[in-house]
Parts: sequence; structure tokens; C-alpha cells
Amino acid sequence: MHSKRARLDRFIARHCQIPLKSVKPLLARGLVSVNGVAVADSQVVIGEFDRIVSDGVVLQDRTPWYFMLHKPVGVVSATRDSQHRTVLDLINHPAKESLHVVGRLDLNTSGLVLLTNDGRWSRALMSPVSKVPKRYQVRVRDPLDERYVKAFAEGLYFETENIVTAPVGLTLTSATTAELVLTEGKYHQIKRMFGRFRNPVLALHRSAVGPYRLDDSLASGEFRPLVVPRDRLHDR
Ligand code: URA
Repeated sequence: MHSKRARLDRFIARHCQIPLKSVKPLLARGLVSVNGVAVADSQVVIGEFDRIVSDGVVLQDRTPWYFMLHKPVGVVSATRDSQHRTVLDLINHPAKESLHVVGRLDLNTSGLVLLTNDGRWSRALMSPVSKVPKRYQVRVRDPLDERYVKAFAEGLYFETENIVTAPVGLTLTSATTAELVLTEGKYHQIKRMFGRFRNPVLALHRSAVGPYRLDDSLASGEFRPLVVPRDRLHDR
């Protein structure tokens, strides 16, 4: 992941390897621009995707990228793996080496995986504080009933982390299938929750993360760039 935010004068001093005090005259002479606009204020804070030009030299010009991928079972939600194909192996795009995964899925879970090079976006989506809803469809071995709905809504105690899970909305869709909405992402959370009932998960699929949804137009193994509206970019 890239850094982040910096004061304009410090950024220029570091990049051009000049003393901080030499930056002021450049700014005063209107020689520094941020996204095409001359900036005189040295205290301005810039982000990793702002285009910075100083005295005609481009110091920073990165493009933020956002992708959705329909992960098949058997593909690892990582950028490198010695044994399995990774989600990155499914992406054919010049920016692929700069990407990281936003919220992993287990090897045998299918569905929506988001990838980006924008750490602020991924942190905002995955932060427990944001409580972004993640929607899953599950198939289990044994019949489900209202006890599951009640227990999931109340929360289950996880000894390893010493926490009670946040309320999970569980909607039964057939005898052995259901839809769940999680607002957190503990390790193997769904499998462990059904495990409490000694009811193994046979299939798990993630269909949505917050406002981003998989639809039928993205087949298993396919990816597509996402256009993220500015107001979803969380104060970049
Ligand atoms: N919960 C799980 O158990 N596995 C996943 O991949 C996602 C949520």
C-alpha cells in the first residue's frame, strides 16, 4: 500500500531532495500545482492520488483503481500464493501489481472480491467502525430453523477472540439455505457460527459488500473495473 497523506512542502522537499525552506519560493512563484491548480500554501495536505507538478516536473501522478471480481471456489484471496491460483491471477490489467484485496474470502467461498490500490477506500470499507454490510448466501448440511435466526441476531461468543459477534441478519430461504448479512468479518465467521450448531457449511457465496453487488453479468472468474463515485471515496 502506498503512502498516504503529506504536507505539500514536505512532500516536495523529500521528492526533490531539497531543504524544506527552499520549497517556499517555488510555491510563492506559483510553480507548484496540485491537480492542475497552482498552490501557494505550504501547509496544504495532499493525498496519494493528487497530481503534483513542481517547476514543470511531475512528482506524483498515480491513478486510483477499483475492481470487482467474481471469485471462483479454489482461488485464494491473496496476491501471492505458492500452491493455488490467486485472485490477481484472474486480473488482466496493467495496474494489477499495485492492487490489494479488500476483505478476503476463504478458498472454498465464491463471490464478490474487491481489489484496489487505494488504501483509504479499502480501510473505510473494512473498518469495524464502518459496519459495512456484507451479504452472503449459504447452504448447510442439516435443516435450519428459527433457533439459528435468534442465535445469530443475539450474537455468539467466540472464545478465541473473546468477543460476542455483532447481530447477523439471517433469512431462511429453503430448508438448508439462507441469506446472511454481516457487519464484521471475523476469521471463518460464518462457518464457525453454523459450527455452533454442528451444521457444516457446504457452500458459501458473497453477493455484496456495501453498495457493490455481483450481478449475473459477471461470470465466475471474471473481473471489471468499478467506477466509485467521489462521495464514496471517504475524504481522500
Ligand atoms: N465467513 C466464512 O466462514 N468464510 C468466508 O469466506 C467469509 C465469511
